[in-house]
Amino acid sequence: MGYKDLRFPDNSVFLVTGGAGFIGSNLCEVILAAGYRVRCLDDLSTGKRENVAMFEHDPGYTFIEGDIKELDTCMRACEGVDYVLNQAAWGSVPRSIEMPLFYEKNNIGGTLNMLEAARQNNVKKFVYASSSSVYGDHPVLPKREGQEGRLLSPYALTKRADEEFAKLYTSLYGLDTYGLRYFNVFGRRQDPDGAYAAVIPKFIKQLMRGETPTINGDGKQSRDFTYVENVVEANLKACLAPHEAAGEAYNIAYGGREYLIDIYYSITKALGVDIEPNYGPDRAGDIKHSNADISKAKRLLGYDPDYDFDTGLSLAIDWYRANL
Ligand SMILES: NC(=O)c1ccc[n+]([C@@H]2O[C@H](COP(=O)([O-])OP(=O)(O)OC[C@H]3O[C@@H](n4cnc5c(N)ncnc54)[C@H](O)[C@@H]3O)[C@@H](O)[C@H]2O)c1
Repeated sequence: MGYKDLRFPDNSVFLVTGGAGFIGSNLCEVILAAGYRVRCLDDLSTGKRENVAMFEHDPGYTFIEGDIKELDTCMRACEGVDYVLNQAAWGSVPRSIEMPLFYEKNNIGGTLNMLEAARQNNVKKFVYASSSSVYGDHPVLPKREGQEGRLLSPYALTKRADEEFAKLYTSLYGLDTYGLRYFNVFGRRQDPDGAYAAVIPKFIKQLMRGETPTINGDGKQSRDFTYVENVVEANLKACLAPHEAAGEAYNIAYGGREYLIDIYYSITKALGVDIEPNYGPDRAGDIKHSNADISKAKRLLGYDPDYDFDTGLSLAIDWYRANL
């Protein structure tokens, strides 16, 4: 269960791209606490220096402010690295619909640079963030690897392209790549602000301030909301996965199904507030329901998530209470 007993060779070096973001900073924190070295590469475009400020005095930690769109930066960052955890990308389906050209350069070009830099530097494992959005409009639930539909956004296309490039880097060049299709991750340090913020931190912050959140659609949409510690576990287990499991993408979720309206009322209850939501239009590029079959990751990566949704939500609420 979990990742606490995992062991890597002494002096292992991890490169976390997007390490100043939500998921990346959680990865940096856990890996440093386990006693390994972490290099964090981030251009601070959507991430924040304050997410990594607490590591700055750790001798095992190095921060590189840089852009994965620059191959030279990626090459420099990969020198002497054992494991790459490539999280750097721009998220948000609606924003990608507004700016497809940028998404292609950042999310596809950037990841391709990182694959190339990892290959040239003989990195042991290349683990990267993909997304449940690659399932597009395929109607079958739960989502299963190999049953992908028509893509609904440039963001989804960038993640699908990353997966295809990563597979090629495994088959052509022997680089062990592992794609992790995250399903709606939430937890400490997820940004609650801005037009493209994820619902859970956004609702928590608004409700804590006595504001009225808006639910897009009728609130009856469902997602496999996944606590961030489970995603950390998946990344670390992928680093230790066998070569036979490389060149593949894996669903990373809890394997549950939560309805947005229920989450809303769980948050109001936990915060002790009595505020009814506003309802707005559906968002373009969104699907109504999504949940994951996680049996492939269990079988081939040994993924066995510890944190169910309710436990994760209560930990997340505690964190925002203490930190907002
Ligand atoms: N949060 C989720 O629910 C979710 C779901 C599916 C997939 N993902 C993927 O997981 C990864 C991490 O997402 P997150 O939620 O932590 O987002 P985030 O925005 O908090 O983190 C992304 C980080 O990448 C950095 N970055 C972006 N472009 C960069 C570039 N060109 N060079 C260097 N750094 C760059 C940003 O500054 C930021 O710190 C992303 O690849 C995202 O697409 C997230």
